[in-house]
Amino acid sequence: MSVSQSAVHLVNHLDPDYLRQALEHDVRTGLASAPKWLPPKWFYDAAGSELFSQITRLPEYYPTRRELAILRREAVDIAARSGADTLVELGSGTSEKTVLLLDALSVTGTLRTYTPVDVDAVTLGDAAQRLTVRYPDLTVRAVCADFERHLALLPRRGRRMVAFLGGTIGNLDPAAREVFLKELRATLRPGDTFLLGADLVKDTGRLVAAYDDAAGVTAAFNRNVLRVVNRELDADFEPDAFEHVAIYDLRSDWIEMRLRATRAMDVRVDGLGLTVSFADGEEMRTEISAKFRPEGLRRELTAAGFTVLHHYTDPTEDFSLVLAGV
Ligand code: SAH
Ligand code: AVI
Repeated sequence: MSVSQSAVHLVNHLDPDYLRQALEHDVRTGLASAPKWLPPKWFYDAAGSELFSQITRLPEYYPTRRELAILRREAVDIAARSGADTLVELGSGTSEKTVLLLDALSVTGTLRTYTPVDVDAVTLGDAAQRLTVRYPDLTVRAVCADFERHLALLPRRGRRMVAFLGGTIGNLDPAAREVFLKELRATLRPGDTFLLGADLVKDTGRLVAAYDDAAGVTAAFNRNVLRVVNRELDADFEPDAFEHVAIYDLRSDWIEMRLRATRAMDVRVDGLGLTVSFADGEEMRTEISAKFRPEGLRRELTAAGFTVLHHYTDPTEDFSLVLAGV
């Protein structure tokens, strides 16, 4: 399906049937598992994306500020090294940080097309509209798609830089990450580059605070997945009957977000004809957010067939951006 909103071109690979089937599959599988889990991509309806935007401004949530600091200092260098005329951004959300890359690519004089890619069509369309006004000479081709399924469908024209910012790579488990990196590598041609933002291992206290903020915004974001399942699959989760949990798993180097049932309960998912029982205190995993070491990032990228061109970090070495070639 292809929709033009004034100057914005939006291609949607997530038609309602596809979305419904994917959600049904994930909820059926995740709620039948022990322990139960739900994949994080279902956080992001319009309300979830807005909550994520609020998270990026929380005092405890450092990743966005750190990545912004790196981009402020290095975007021109990144743009020059990439020589890209097309910026493709996976999981682009509001594209707020992206303007630094777009400005830098405009300065180097090569930029022609921006392709933001996201599962949340509303946030994607808004961002594309805003950028079309801000950059009248830029062609914005927004693609509503799942980066775990639709990489092969992304536009292949031009000399591309594919950006995957924010540390979203950390929301994939190691096996899914390996598949994702190999699939992405397979779509790239000589001259294309990959810009990867990844959060680095650090003090556990700071990590946990970033995912369990005092204002409770991350808790609301976490519970939003239940609201999405209620709305889309006619379920009767009581979000307030679940506590937000964020722990750091030192063996796996990842934050795990969970929802803990505060009492025993049965939840009906009418859209699937299911009743699911939760024990008092039972925890359901809703997200992992892996933290990396620079040598681990290099190893994973190299194993997938990339060549690391440059590694950027902020003065506190909280976050890193890696520019890789093929
Ligand atoms: N890149 C932005 C947003 C990060 S939030 C930043 O750095 O601030 C993660 C984004 O990825 C959300 O906008 C969410 O809708 C999107 N997303 C999550 N899983 C996705 C998937 N499987 N395919 C496409 N987009 C996805
Ligand atoms: C989008 N992603 C990189 C965020 C993260 O930090 O893993 C999502 C998030 N979850 C809780 N807070 C933010």
